[in-house]
Amino acid sequence: MIIPNLTEAKKRTSKEVLVKTNEYIMENELKKIGQGKKYFVKTYGCQMNEHDGENIKAILEDMSFTEVGTMEEADLILLNTCAIRENAHNKVFGYLGRIKHLKEERPNIITGICGCMAQEEVVVEEIMKKYKWLDFVFGTHNIHKLPQILSTAIVRKQQEIEVMSVEGDIVENIPVKRASKYKAWINIMYGCDKFCTYCIVPYTRGKQRSRHPEYILEEVRQLKKEGYKEITLLGQNVNAYGKDLNIDYKMEDLLEDVAKTKIERIRFVTSHPWDFTDDMINKISKYPNIMPYIHLPLQSGSNKILKLMGRRYTKETYLELFQKLKQKLPYSSITTDIIVGFPGETQEDFEDTLDIVNTCKFDSAFTFIFSPRVGTPAAKMKDDVPEDEKRKRLQRLNQLVNQYSNEANQKYFNKIVPVLIEGYSEKDSKYLMGYTDTMKLVNVKGDDSVIGQIVNVRITDVKTWSMNGEIIQ
Ligand code: 5AD
Ligand code: SF4
Repeated sequence: MIIPNLTEAKKRTSKEVLVKTNEYIMENELKKIGQGKKYFVKTYGCQMNEHDGENIKAILEDMSFTEVGTMEEADLILLNTCAIRENAHNKVFGYLGRIKHLKEERPNIITGICGCMAQEEVVVEEIMKKYKWLDFVFGTHNIHKLPQILSTAIVRKQQEIEVMSVEGDIVENIPVKRASKYKAWINIMYGCDKFCTYCIVPYTRGKQRSRHPEYILEEVRQLKKEGYKEITLLGQNVNAYGKDLNIDYKMEDLLEDVAKTKIERIRFVTSHPWDFTDDMINKISKYPNIMPYIHLPLQSGSNKILKLMGRRYTKETYLELFQKLKQKLPYSSITTDIIVGFPGETQEDFEDTLDIVNTCKFDSAFTFIFSPRVGTPAAKMKDDVPEDEKRKRLQRLNQLVNQYSNEANQKYFNKIVPVLIEGYSEKDSKYLMGYTDTMKLVNVKGDDSVIGQIVNVRITDVKTWSMNGEIIQ
């Protein structure tokens, strides 16, 4: 048993990051463990976690398990969790209640949790006390050890916990079962060293480790060969890509080399305003296959709060960058993340946030109420904004954000835009759905033949969250 340790998770040393190309090992006897058995993996959280879920599924299939769509049908249930806010935690604990019932009915099913919550010391302590029936727990650093962890849990019939609190290495040979045949996620870096005071990610995912460009480019070329149209380069802070490598190679170089593979669409998330260089902007404007879409988290419009958050920029420098982006990439859409109710946020600080939203008129924004995370500096600050005030602020902010989303979308009316058609709309299967280059959701009528294609669509109807259009050939 290896349990997580917050003090270790906080550490950053100059220890060299090892690139391990043979670390994922599947012994022959483990390959048959899942024969005739079904698995269900539920993933919460960000795209990084979704992508981890794709790795986990591929590993389980290497062990001969077959995927099913509901936990009721499954012999193995795994929750791939997120720790970013309290409600992410609550969802998982709620779901565990349901799994417990199933386990009581069918004691032979195997149940586990992994992901960011599993990296938290407090969560694992709770699991050991209150969720003794869970069979296994592993973290974000040892996904490649799943076959061994799972087999130990099955053989020993006792709770197997293996969560490493380490700065982390890079494992290059983990298989992947991609959710889409047309668009793919590619990790370009792991972890984060920014340590924004509210954020748990640096503790759950370790130090910043950039993947070597050769591995990334090889993955892009392979995906292109397989017919993929779109890739998204993933990292907690992609602009800082390469800073930890011992070669002189930065995000702008990676963007250029990926663009030169001629894959049709390149996206990247998430950008931190701190490391967004002019060179990066130039590369985005130079290559038409780098999509004009930038997610640029603001978090707050108050300099006092930004300082308390440890964001390393002011509202003035954020605005400067924003305006530069709009000037050099006029067609681009820019979205953001905003937190309200951070400790010490006064009405005036909140008005500063509204001000900047009024200036930037974001295409859309993800908005959150501050949620204290155990172990982060902000969790120790006095959480002095009353709950109902936080909710009021969120509501006011959302109203404004939605107004600008709608305004931004109205500009698309009657325009012709390229859309990568991904499949049928989940909401209404009469429609196909896809995204524009600027990441706007579009529903169109059409037949199967356009799925996986980038088609020109005339926008006929515009709403706050999506648009309707017709394919023009
Ligand atoms: N409370 C509320 N929101 C948070 N985020 C990250 N940590 C917290 C927290 N403790 C938000 C930030 C980030 C997004 C992914 O989640 O806005 O950009
Ligand atoms: Fe959630 Fe952050 Fe972990 Fe992603 S990295 S799963 S957002 S806690």
